[in-house]
Amino acid sequence: MNERFSDKIRKHLNIGKEILYLSREDVKKLSIPQEVLKDQMEKALMMYSLGETQMPAKSHVFPDSQSVYIGMPALIPGMESAGVKWVGAYNHNMRDYGLPSLSAMLMVSDYATGWPVAVMDGVHIMETRTPMIAMVSAMLLGRKNSEVFGMIGLGREGCNHFDVIEFGIPNLKKVLVWDVSEAAMDRAIELYSSKLSVPMEKAASLEEIVRNSDILASATFFSTDPHPTIKDEWVPEGQTIIVTDLHSQFHPDTINRADLYVVDSMEQQKHLVEAGYFYGEIPVPNCELGHIIAGRHEGRTSDKQLIVANPSGMAVDDFAVTPLVIEMALEKGVGKILPL
Ligand SMILES: NC(=O)c1ccc[n+]([C@@H]2O[C@H](COP(=O)([O-])OP(=O)(O)OC[C@H]3O[C@@H](n4cnc5c(N)ncnc54)[C@H](O)[C@@H]3O)[C@@H](O)[C@H]2O)c1
Repeated sequence: MNERFSDKIRKHLNIGKEILYLSREDVKKLSIPQEVLKDQMEKALMMYSLGETQMPAKSHVFPDSQSVYIGMPALIPGMESAGVKWVGAYNHNMRDYGLPSLSAMLMVSDYATGWPVAVMDGVHIMETRTPMIAMVSAMLLGRKNSEVFGMIGLGREGCNHFDVIEFGIPNLKKVLVWDVSEAAMDRAIELYSSKLSVPMEKAASLEEIVRNSDILASATFFSTDPHPTIKDEWVPEGQTIIVTDLHSQFHPDTINRADLYVVDSMEQQKHLVEAGYFYGEIPVPNCELGHIIAGRHEGRTSDKQLIVANPSGMAVDDFAVTPLVIEMALEKGVGKILPL
């Protein structure tokens, strides 16, 4: 019989008396292999859609229209994982404080006793699992002959897509990039053009990247002041649009004419609609990514379909990774054990 996760932790940690603290550098240092991350994301998406997890929709509190705190609890019995994520998203952090917009901490509980076992930075897990989910979406929904990948928004999330492109676009021939910040585009080209095996180019305009990408991803800002910048007439037939920013740059006409509109959680989508995150009227999604992975719903059925995937990010994505991180950290002696 497999050893219980709780018993594995107990070998290194006096549960109820101690917790493990992991900084962002600690989590990074443990470096979960990308193939393993991909498997965990597919499992998390599928388990969620099959009702094998408990994850109430995110709770939002808004200091103002450009800032939000998000509380995200999750329980994954099949992975003996339980915890809560606390996110801060302040769009003007960089301008006002020189800090990234997003912060995240994870508090992880022991599944056997309910006591806290770890507190850790959540940013590294979030910024690696989100692009991986984008690539899982590209694999599921992209045309098989997709060759051009366009990335709009070249912050941390956007750039991390380049690390995992091969998981989503096997026939990649070219990468186009676009950001409102020229400096962000220059930085992305400098960091990634030599790492990629295909040409990476700045698009001449937002219109050019939209018209010429087979798979178009966006990781810009989202806010309760949505601001579509992408004209519907620029969006070509057969495109696969994968957003991590609640499609805040896309006009609702594009979302409404999509042949397939997919989310990670129908319930969470409903709450986001109610919280006023989307501009204009948008349709009820056709299905969740997990339904397609589980074979409960069809993905792309023709090269002509316009498909939009809007995985808004779920706590189960993060807590599918935390057990691996905690186990590796305790075995390797990474992080600090603190008294409770
Ligand atoms: N869906 C998820 O699971 C998930 C998880 C984490 C983050 N996110 C979201 O991903 C997005 C990016 O996060 P990040 O940490 O990379 O942020 P970031 O602040 O590091 O980067 C955002 C980038 O977008 C650019 N940008 C802003 N508006 C733009 C526009 N109109 N057109 C082109 N570029 C524009 C900015 O210049 C910046 O380079 C945010 O919206 C964040 O909330 C989603």
